[in-house]
Amino acid sequence: MTDVRTSTDPRDARRAFLAAALRRPATMGAVAPSSPRLTRVLASVVPRAGRPVVVELGPGTGAVSAAIGERIPAAGQHLAVELDPGMVAYLQRTHPNLEIVHGDARRLGELLAERGVDHVDAVICGLPWALFDEATQSGILTGISDAIGQTGAFTTFAYLQGMALPAARKFRATLRRTFDEVVVSATVWRNMPPAFVYVCRRPVQR
Ligand SMILES: C[S@@+](CC[C@H](N)C(=O)[O-])C[C@H]1O[C@@H](n2cnc3c(N)ncnc32)[C@H](O)[C@@H]1O
Repeated sequence: MTDVRTSTDPRDARRAFLAAALRRPATMGAVAPSSPRLTRVLASVVPRAGRPVVVELGPGTGAVSAAIGERIPAAGQHLAVELDPGMVAYLQRTHPNLEIVHGDARRLGELLAERGVDHVDAVICGLPWALFDEATQSGILTGISDAIGQTGAFTTFAYLQGMALPAARKFRATLRRTFDEVVVSATVWRNMPPAFVYVCRRPVQR
């Protein structure tokens, strides 16, 4: 029988994710983990060589963490910042080699400074942007911009259906104001629900 405490079985991850989403809808913002296809697009900016520093925001049950883990070289550093204590405990059991930071993405600058990290090559983000007010979105984007500087990359995703909502279009406009380059990926239909990825580079100087 599968031991749920140490398993990375996708069914266990889906159950754990759904349970957390039902308990804490205001921080999860989704009912299922990202699909392998979506996670590969999100992780595509992780450098495959050298000693890159990669920060993941909102790892949840670790679907994206796994895709990052497949690309990042052994000498790289992968920090996963998660707010929810239940998700932190789940990740500690299922991804024992992941450097998990129990913290708030709103404090990204402080979290990195506490660990002596002064430059980040990629920020891969699974945060539920739609649940944040504009001030929170803008504060987190400032932290990400400061972390990646002019040479790093930042990816995040949005659900296709959400683009009917003004808030989602406003968030896209905010990204375009914040970064010199914002590339929108093809729709990943094999995700629940279908989604796409924003790939952002070169924060506009404030
Ligand atoms: C939509 S889930 C994404 C999970 C995973 N990245 C995926 O794609 O399957 C959002 C995750 O962000 C976490 N989260 C929400 N607000 C956060 C914050 N301010 N700082 C860090 N993590 C946060 C939630 O607890 C949840 O695990």
